[in-house]
Amino acid sequence: MCGIFAYYGPKKNAPKLVIEGLKKLEYRGYDSWGIAYKIPNDIIIHKKIGKISDVKIKDLNPAQSNISIGHSRWATHGGVTQKNAHPHFTENKEIVLVHNGILENYLTIKKDLIKKGHKFISETDTEVIAHLIEEYCKKHSFEDSVKLAIKEMEGRYAIVVMKKDENEIIAARKGSPLIIGVGENKNEYFIASDIPAFLAYTNKVIYLDDNQLAFINNKKTSFFDIEENAHIQKRKVQIDWDIESAEKGQFPHFMIKEITEQKDTLSRAINQDPKIIERVANEIKKAYGTYLVGCGTAGKVCMVGEYLFAKIAKKHINFKFGSEFRSQKNFLTNKSLMIAVSQSGETADTLEAIEIAKQKGVKIVAIVNAENSSIARMADIVIPIKAGIEKAVASTKATTSQLAILTLLAYACNGGINEGKQLLISTASQINDMLNPRYEQHIMKLAKKIKDVESMYIIGRNANYPIALEAAIKLQEVSYIHAEGFAGGELKHGPIALISKNTPVIVLVENNEYRNEILSNAIEVKARGGYIIGVSPIKEEVFDFWIKVPDTGDSYPIVNIIPVQILAYQLAVLRKNNPDMPRNLAKSVTVK
Ligand code: F6R
Repeated sequence: MCGIFAYYGPKKNAPKLVIEGLKKLEYRGYDSWGIAYKIPNDIIIHKKIGKISDVKIKDLNPAQSNISIGHSRWATHGGVTQKNAHPHFTENKEIVLVHNGILENYLTIKKDLIKKGHKFISETDTEVIAHLIEEYCKKHSFEDSVKLAIKEMEGRYAIVVMKKDENEIIAARKGSPLIIGVGENKNEYFIASDIPAFLAYTNKVIYLDDNQLAFINNKKTSFFDIEENAHIQKRKVQIDWDIESAEKGQFPHFMIKEITEQKDTLSRAINQDPKIIERVANEIKKAYGTYLVGCGTAGKVCMVGEYLFAKIAKKHINFKFGSEFRSQKNFLTNKSLMIAVSQSGETADTLEAIEIAKQKGVKIVAIVNAENSSIARMADIVIPIKAGIEKAVASTKATTSQLAILTLLAYACNGGINEGKQLLISTASQINDMLNPRYEQHIMKLAKKIKDVESMYIIGRNANYPIALEAAIKLQEVSYIHAEGFAGGELKHGPIALISKNTPVIVLVENNEYRNEILSNAIEVKARGGYIIGVSPIKEEVFDFWIKVPDTGDSYPIVNIIPVQILAYQLAVLRKNNPDMPRNLAKSVTVK
């Protein structure tokens, strides 16, 4: 999970373009960065610990170059050191390479290469790839050497490689994203982990698929498929993303921009082709076992889905985190159905779950934001959530859009797609009214009061239970306050021992059959000194602080998470954390 950016073309300021591109990808990894660029007979490399956003091109003062590759890193193999930062290279910088993903068999390859006399200076798996290519180069051309190396590599990767004496860059992918932007000039290419990085230059893209390579040079750019062992033609497609949605605009951070965008994103999510929704609903009805699968926030959305389907569609649906899905493999048949939920469409654990399911002939439905992602490409049916680019590491607008799609599907399963749509249209309009500066100022009063607490808890019942878990993730990842979510009824079985005087406890209250029970749990907490923050359509006596949410019936999970997203953001800002780039995290987790 890192950001890759490379440039090949006529422009002479390739290093600057790469630095700028990496800045746009920084949300993918930000512990260190590096670039390499070609000059006559040599390759110059700069690497540093820290954020690429702090780099000023004038301080770097690169020489003119029209070929450059770069990387911003989220450490996996080896700590955050300059040596472990990419690009990695072999002796005399013969081969220089950036990599996103994990080379699973790197130790075996490394041992073999050491026997052949290779010396390694970093702890990374990536350096091994550079040496492997170099080893093949002793007997083969650069292009063939990369092909041969790739045949030997196990795991997921996206790589971009250059060689000192070749006017060429080679890109390859398997399981990690890599997209090629086709520039306006002849023979001009931008290669990046994500489209926004080059959107300022082009909206024409070529999607590399798994096991494919691109040879970009001044003769004829060509593509090769490792499995077919043949050169292939690739289609150039025009995408309609606009550049503003990839920028912060007037907002101080992407996170608050994306929270605010929920005024519109829900309406976009519901605006689906009803035929696709009905088709998926039919698949669910006829499946012998449906599994909702996702990770992190998307996993919590799937858990909410379990409750929604149980209530609205009267249907039992299983949920598993991507990383836990393997345990279910004995129950899978070609009559099972998997609904994979993912914002990025690149999460390795979810991808692995899909691979396991596909081996058993399971039909795959993908609910994704990134429509051309690996998960979308592996699916039989895709439901795009249409939330637009989500850049802040903490997911917000994608979460509520995913929840909206699952709500719609649950209604469709019960023959009530129009009823579901009406409910969500009304929810979208109530969110529009709710998200205003006064609302944020009200939550800010709470944020200021609790900003220095050590721990806080969130409780909810029914579908508010997974929302409590999701609320905890939001608070943890950007405020760094210890936050935990519990099912309201579970408190008395243990966690209530954690409550002491003034411990903040967010109580998520829905206006239905669970209301009295969750309020009783709130009273139990208050009796132990807890400070009760009620997220509820109705003001209750037990609340020390009330955050009003609209009463939206079955779509309460959607409206209940929004005030906690705002609170998490505000706590991050008050505690001087960068909410867009929380420590130790990155936007899409492409490693297991
Ligand atoms: C938390 C968050 C993560 C992601 C998880 C799955 O705010 O964003 O927990 O939800 O890494 O990512 P996707 O949805 O891209 O599969």
